[in-house]
Amino acid sequence: MKILVIGGGGREHALAWKLKQSPGVNRIFCAPGNAGTAQIAENVAIPATDLPALARFAKGTHLDLTVVGPDDPLAAGIVDLFVAEKLRVFGPTKSAARIESSKIFAKELMRAQKIPTAKASTFSDSDEALRYCEQLQFPVVIKADGLALGKGVIVAPDSATARSTIDSMMNEGRFGEAGRRILIEEFLRGSECSLHALVDGKNYRLLESARDHKRVFDGDKGPNTGGMGAFSPANNWTPDLQSQLEEEIMPPVLRGLLKEGVTFRGLLYPGLMITSDGLHVLEFNCRFGDPETQAILPRMKSDLLPLLEATIDGKIDNCTIEWDECVTVTIVLASGGYPGKYETGKPISGLDKATKLNDVQIFHAGTRRADGEIVTAGGRVLAVTALGSTMESARIRAYEAVSAIHFDGCHYRRDIALGAVSG
Ligand SMILES: Nc1ncnc2c1ncn2[C@@H]1O[C@H](COP(=O)(O)OP(=O)(O)O)[C@@H](O)[C@H]1O
Ligand SMILES: [Mg+2]
Repeated sequence: MKILVIGGGGREHALAWKLKQSPGVNRIFCAPGNAGTAQIAENVAIPATDLPALARFAKGTHLDLTVVGPDDPLAAGIVDLFVAEKLRVFGPTKSAARIESSKIFAKELMRAQKIPTAKASTFSDSDEALRYCEQLQFPVVIKADGLALGKGVIVAPDSATARSTIDSMMNEGRFGEAGRRILIEEFLRGSECSLHALVDGKNYRLLESARDHKRVFDGDKGPNTGGMGAFSPANNWTPDLQSQLEEEIMPPVLRGLLKEGVTFRGLLYPGLMITSDGLHVLEFNCRFGDPETQAILPRMKSDLLPLLEATIDGKIDNCTIEWDECVTVTIVLASGGYPGKYETGKPISGLDKATKLNDVQIFHAGTRRADGEIVTAGGRVLAVTALGSTMESARIRAYEAVSAIHFDGCHYRRDIALGAVSG
């Protein structure tokens, strides 16, 4: 089989790495990929957002399957295009992807299906939003409706922050169209957790739980990033919470989508807040998480390919997924200045040494090859995953691998999974 993975981050390296282990696969392509995917697959120089060029490549190469990594090609309708061209593809259609690409659509669906989520009001007029703020108790959470590279959610501790956030989103167009409509919602207290589900339209299979670290600095300080690390399983996940997810969240969301005439096939990943009052959905994502995927897939014993195929074919009910008993810790190495401005092109050393360590898997994110060297090419540069029998041993191993790797300006959090170490 010939497979294309669309995207060029750590998630896509992990997907390509896992699919490569499938006995049915003989060629893997990544578009555009990175220096890591180049070592296990063939990189194709097409941006993840150039839908017509991707479809032409898929046709010309007689691909058997395309797996879409990032959210923007999904929101732009890549799956609809591929299906129209009779190309086999893993991911939701444009209308199904609205569950992620419109937080207002998702909120209305949750409300209609009585899915537990933060109470929220929707605004398309900034004066109305500003007036509404006058009567609120703070903090509140302000969310741009559309995709905003993980930067469209602001927790406003006071009215001044709320006003300036509303102004920058709705009047100054900080996120373009994505911020023209907003949600102002109740601030929930608790701890977060990510669950991934392979959804085949009707049925679904959950993957193992994970948690990520969004803030840039230790102790959850500093601005939000795309994710500075993750671990799996989540230390706050329990069988009771799983029952709640499987009763009050998963079936209703699929029912709600079907009621809208939407069949969701692909990966659905609710971001959850565990509150004193049980689970609440913060958002739905319609693709694999980054960096959660880099923590989850190394624990998956089953072949991923038949699971993706069964999801596309509406047969996930026939599948069981086997998991390794081990736990994983994933640490993201970022460029100096990230998530703000950063430079690229810095040579990376120590990758060979780190790769040789047992039970360590290095996934590339923002890397490329230049003059025979691997250099930095993005904000998040590498995701280093280590396996262990305990969180403590996985952490030690992960940080050992990290300390072997160097590049100018490299920074990472020292407290990934620290809260999950028992004793
Ligand atoms: N209602 C809420 N209460 C408290 N924190 C929230 C709430 N909604 C979002 N957050 C915080 O903001 C982060 C980002 O919000 P989310 O809805 O997941 O959007 P996105 O991932 O698209 O930026 C969450 O991971 C959580 O930490
Ligand atoms: Mg989120």
